[in-house]
Amino acid sequence: MPKSYRVAILGATGAVGTELLDLLAERNFPLADLKLLASPRSAGQRLKFQGETLEIEAVGDRSFDQIDLVLASAGGSTSKAWVDAIVQAGAVMIDNSSAFRMRPDVPLVVPEVNPEAAATHQGIIANPNCTTILMAVAVYPLHQIQPIQRIVASTYQSASGAGARAMEEVKVQAQAILNDQVPKTEIFPYPLAFNLFPHNTPINDQGYCEEEMKMVNETRKIFGVPNLRVTATCIRVPVLRAHSESINLEFGSPFGVEQAREVLSQAPGVKLVEDWKANYFPMPMEASGKDEVLVGRIRQDISDPNCLELWLSGDQIRKGAALNAVQIAELLVEQDQVRPAKQAVTVQ
Ligand code: A2P
Repeated sequence: MPKSYRVAILGATGAVGTELLDLLAERNFPLADLKLLASPRSAGQRLKFQGETLEIEAVGDRSFDQIDLVLASAGGSTSKAWVDAIVQAGAVMIDNSSAFRMRPDVPLVVPEVNPEAAATHQGIIANPNCTTILMAVAVYPLHQIQPIQRIVASTYQSASGAGARAMEEVKVQAQAILNDQVPKTEIFPYPLAFNLFPHNTPINDQGYCEEEMKMVNETRKIFGVPNLRVTATCIRVPVLRAHSESINLEFGSPFGVEQAREVLSQAPGVKLVEDWKANYFPMPMEASGKDEVLVGRIRQDISDPNCLELWLSGDQIRKGAALNAVQIAELLVEQDQVRPAKQAVTVQ
């Protein structure tokens, strides 16, 4: 009889949490039980799942007893607060926060890129940063044909990256501006409606914000290339959902545009979207709700024959977060690696 698993979603009421719920149903994940956890604010609220009504519980000391797998999407501080309880309960945590991503004992997994890493887990697997996942899915297939020497990325990140309340804030701000009122800010430091600003994570001594450094360090770890040259500029834009990225890739010698198109048209998790005559390329509105990363505008960089330019849009909540986490869970099921941290690792 196929195995089934007792799963908990930590942060079930959030933007990513509710998407996790949808994806578990949609993809028919082998569930024996599903527990929805959030903060005490949401305790007692109800959510629908496959025709049943499930009640949200406030996360607590006994929440992870009898749980095999925890999908965590309640932010880094909540993940840090509960990781020991989760691992000690013998569950595997797939964590959407940045809390553990760079720990050497924690695999950082994009299933289309490094699925083999999942099996090495010691109780925690990290889901990478959203912009990093979208970029990795789009550029890794090219890297496999010819190693990438340098990546220059500029991002156009939607409000959804800051959670459900941030999406709501942008709508309220837009209404205020249309009514000639001063927009209120709560989640974001500045009005995002009809505006944009560089990503508001802390800035380091070199002038890079945390989001940009995530793209640098996480891409290196996922690709297994510790010295890969990556630079990024991350910008928040007044889009509700789905991030976009402009990416310049440098190779050791010219990479034919036609070959790049051919490779990407067959790449897992990628959909090529290009109609040059119609000037039609990936857009966040069309990427929203889709599993694939939309990639297009592939062209040779006229300033350097060894470089390619491309443009992508991908659903940050889906492939950039919830879908990637569920795909990792599916990998663990396939590899029979939903196991407590201390059990021997058998990489197939
Ligand atoms: P709650 O709705 O009870 O605040 P988003 O990223 O969309 O803002 O969602 C964050 C998710 O994390 C929500 O489900 C939220 O629950 C949950 N969360 C936030 N803080 C905590 C906490 N301290 N303990 C448990 N869950 C939390």
